[in-house]
Amino acid sequence: MWQVAQPVSTQSQSSAARRRIPANRAWCLQAQKCVTDAINPALLQRYGALAQQDTCLSCGTAASRLEPAEGEICADLGCGRGKDVLELAAKVGPRGHVYGLDASPQMLETARARAAFEGVIQVTFRESALEALALPDASVDWVVSNCALNHARDKAQVWREIARVLRPGGRFVVSDIYAVEEIAPEHRNDPVAVAECWAGAELRADYLAHVAAAGLGELAVSEESQPYRRAQSVLASFTLSGRKPRAEEVME
Ligand SMILES: C[S@@+](CC[C@H](N)C(=O)[O-])C[C@H]1O[C@@H](n2cnc3c(N)ncnc32)[C@H](O)[C@@H]1O
Repeated sequence: MWQVAQPVSTQSQSSAARRRIPANRAWCLQAQKCVTDAINPALLQRYGALAQQDTCLSCGTAASRLEPAEGEICADLGCGRGKDVLELAAKVGPRGHVYGLDASPQMLETARARAAFEGVIQVTFRESALEALALPDASVDWVVSNCALNHARDKAQVWREIARVLRPGGRFVVSDIYAVEEIAPEHRNDPVAVAECWAGAELRADYLAHVAAAGLGELAVSEESQPYRRAQSVLASFTLSGRKPRAEEVME
């Protein structure tokens, strides 16, 4: 069984400093260590091999549902080959910025090459575990993710990280799978089955409970699929959106 990452300690930044989040060496090194400690090796192997292919790896349309204003900051968690990062870069324009975070060095290499080929400069791709995001506190306006969170060993921790990096009032849109019937422990603990996008899925109620426990609100579910069978599981997919409350809303 693989180990779970420790959170990366970070500092808040002023809104002026948020436009382009500088690489902080100490924090990057710590995040690198978290990446190597936390990531399921079967996952790195699977996505390393898929990095040069064209197969669709998404399970919803989260990025198309984001409505960032020009100049805003977005982060794509488990960005893969960077397709959604580039789509969002066009939305935030040259004054905005989009961070693509992923654990797979090969996926990041493909994403960087794609951005360079298309001449998109308002993007940064970082190696990072979902459980220890390589971003400072309250640094992004939008979090997006597509079919990545089901792979994380500690999903409650991932949602705490999403709440940490969102600025107060910031929003998230996440497409993912959930389990319609509980996954048997022998599959849940099988790194290969988790890497194959089914055994890491958790029950819908547990999924929503992690989001609420992280302090995120205004939850809305869209594009929810019918249940379908995959390997030894019955799954469904959905897109979940919500918002981090502002300080005054928390005190009410
Ligand atoms: C199914 S692919 C989706 C890629 C992309 N979002 C898309 O829609 O095309 C899942 C991605 O999440 C990344 N990933 C999975 N678990 C991760 C973790 N614990 N930390 C960081 N990245 C992870 C994988 O490397 C892979 O690139």
